[in-house]
Order: sequence, then structure tokens, then C-alpha cells
Amino acid sequence: MHVQVGIIGAGPAGLMLARLLHLRGISSIVLESRNRAYVETRLRAGLLEQGSVDLINETGMGERMQREWMVHNGTEYVAGGERYRVDMWDLINRRVYIYGQQEVVKDMIAVNLAAGVPIIFEAEAREIGGLDGDKPFIRYRANGVEETIVCDFIGGCDGFHGICREAIPKAIRKDYDRVYPFGWLGILADAAPTSHELIYCQNEERGFALFTMRSPKVSRCYLQVPPDESEENWSDDRIWDELGKRLGKHEGLTLSTGKITQKSVTPMRSFVSEPMRHGRLFIAGDSAHIVPPTGAKGMNLAISDVYVLAKAMTAHYERGETELFDHYTETCLRRVWGAQHFSWWITSMMHNLPDENPFDRKRQLAELRAVLGSRAGQTLLAENYAGLPIEM
Ligand code: APR
Ligand code: PHB
Repeated sequence: MHVQVGIIGAGPAGLMLARLLHLRGISSIVLESRNRAYVETRLRAGLLEQGSVDLINETGMGERMQREWMVHNGTEYVAGGERYRVDMWDLINRRVYIYGQQEVVKDMIAVNLAAGVPIIFEAEAREIGGLDGDKPFIRYRANGVEETIVCDFIGGCDGFHGICREAIPKAIRKDYDRVYPFGWLGILADAAPTSHELIYCQNEERGFALFTMRSPKVSRCYLQVPPDESEENWSDDRIWDELGKRLGKHEGLTLSTGKITQKSVTPMRSFVSEPMRHGRLFIAGDSAHIVPPTGAKGMNLAISDVYVLAKAMTAHYERGETELFDHYTETCLRRVWGAQHFSWWITSMMHNLPDENPFDRKRQLAELRAVLGSRAGQTLLAENYAGLPIEM
């Protein structure tokens, strides 16, 4: 079987790539190791930048999103017991949108399938090869049978644990990595959001907490916990009690509680691998980089990478140009490193480090006050949070 582009992974990166290529008349096939229900219900982050929302809309995948999203003109912060609001709309004329990643994935799958783009679920890519030649291949297993796809290019959109990054020879690859000494306990609850905007809290004694949401009736909240913490140690009462303490008491703000329907602990890591291209393999999204969730950049970076990739593939098929392929790594990584810096910065400012000395704790609070207490500081925060330009 031959297609122009073989895509591994049906996350936001793989599905957006398939859609962009289809709209340019370039054929692709998407292989996904999990089943459809699994990828459509996998709970992940849920914040979209304007650039991501625009691309989802322009590619005809935003119809339900525009009905169900929650539009946020500003974000709240609590630091040193004080409450701040960063009004992105006022500061930079931009905003962000809450719409769960699994909802994005559901919509992308539906639109791709309706357009006739093949997505094969429960098809695990086992091997890729021929990357240096002009006919790379993907060997995969589906229904107990080994199959091979021969293509012109491979889109490695297979997430952090996929096989594509590993196919780039170690000798030419450089990985940049930082593991944080804490994780996030995330919960989903049948409770109206505590505020209509997200609240990021830094509590000097107890650590970080985030209050976000999925709908007017469903809250999503996170607590900083030790990285090896088990969710088993956290009863519903303990979670609400801790969220309340980290939020603190503020006039007109009451912690909204309800039945917790899901809880899990996620480790926190920053990671970048370069190059993102090897011959005819291009990696994108979590396959190439991951960010701690504090900056809410993961899904947005996956989408911007494949925008750059689809543009390069279009230039190749429509005009025979290959220059954009040569710039793929550099173009993507410029934005990725911007998001890496922001994610690290906001993570470092908002979390308590286990071995931090009292000086660092005070310095951290002073930094938060400097950023949140000035228009210049808030503008820098807002520009990064609302999203750097797709092509910088
Ligand atoms: N064969 C086929 N599919 C695979 C293979 C394989 N060998 N290995 C992994 N996959 C699939 C995974 O099951 C997953 O559905 O690749 C997909 C990768 O999707 P994501 O992990 O969602 O990655 P990406 O599309 O880059 O989106 C990044 O996801 O993890 C979050 O925070 C992250 O929001 C960010 C987003
Ligand atoms: C989420 O809604 O899950 C979310 C929002 C913002 C973040 C992280 C997670 O920074």
C-alpha cells in the first residue's frame, strides 16, 4: 500500500496534520495503537490559544468547539495571600479558550473520517525505516497481522513514548531534559467552577493549586504533590480541604465542591529533542518535546508544529520546493523554546521546591509580586500565556 504521508499517532498533532494535508490534496493514513474510544476519552489539558482555535476553525473542525468552548479574557492568580487578575484582552487584545483535548480529538477524528481520510485504530507501528531513501516504510500490526505502508514521508506524531524519535540516530540527536521534583494531582468534579476564570495559586506554606474547568458544571483542579505520590492517599475530603487551604480566603470567592469523578497524578517534565527531522521522517508534538502543564502549551505546540510541517509538504508537492523541509527543525524549535522558557518560568514561580531555603521562598514571592503587580510584568505573562506567533 502506498500513500504520500504515513502518520503515526491520532493525537492533536497527527489528526491536524492529516486534515491540513487532505485540504491540500495530499493523501495520508493515520495509524493509532489505541482504540477510538480510548483516544476520545483520554483526559488531558484543555486550554487553546487563539492561533490553535483559528486553525481548528479554518480547517472546518471547530463547529462544536464554538458552541461549547469557554472564552477567557483574563486569568486570576493568588500569591502571598493576595488576588490578582491578568486581563489579557485589555493588555494585548487576545484571549484563550477552554475546550478539553479529548473533545478536540473527537472533532478531528469525526471530520477526518467524514472526509475519507483513513484512520486505523488498534494499529501499532512497530518499525519505521528507509528514512534516508525516497520511499520510507512503516511496519505495523493490526488485528494480529503485520502490514507495511510505503510512503513519501513519515509524520512522527506518536507522543512521548512513541517509536519515531528513537528512529533518529543517537549520534545526531540531542535531548534536553529537566524533571521537576513534584507532580500534579488532577481531579475532575461535578462542581461548578470556583470562579468563571482560571485561578493559579501559589501558597507559601502548602504549594501550588490550579482551579480550571471543563463546563459550567464541571471543575478540573490540580494540586502540587510529591512526584511519586499515589492518588490513593487522597480522599475526596482531603482534596477539597487542601484546595481550600491553598486558595485561601478572599472576599466574594467561595470554593465550589462536588463529587470527584476522576483523580490521577502526573509527573512534570520539560523535554526537547533535536533535530525534529531525519531524512524523510518529521517528528511533531509530544514526540519531540514536552512541557510541564503549568503553561498549558502541550496541545498548542503539537498544533503549531504540524502547521509548519504541512506548509513544507505543500511547498514540496505543489512547487517542488524543499527549502521549508530544511528549516523545519529550526522553525518549530524557535517557538518550542519560547514555550519551554515560559512553562519553566511559570512553573518555577508557582511551585514550592522541596529543598528550597527561606531566602528562595521570599525571592519567589517578590518575583510574583513584581510580575503580577505591574502592567509591564502582566503584559509579558499575557503575551506568552495567550501564545507566541505560530511562525516567529
Ligand atoms: N503506533 C501507533 N500509534 C502510537 C504509537 C505507535 N507505535 N505510539 C504512540 N501512538 C499514539 C498514542 O496512542 C497517542 O494516541 O500516538 C498518539 C500521540 O498523541 P498525543 O500523546 O496526544 O501527542 P500529540 O498529538 O503530540 O499531542 C500533544 O498531548 O500529551 C498531551 O500534553 C500533551 O497536550 C499535549 C498533546
Ligand atoms: C486544564 O484546563 O486542564 C488546564 C488549564 C490550564 C493549565 C493546565 C491545565 O495551565
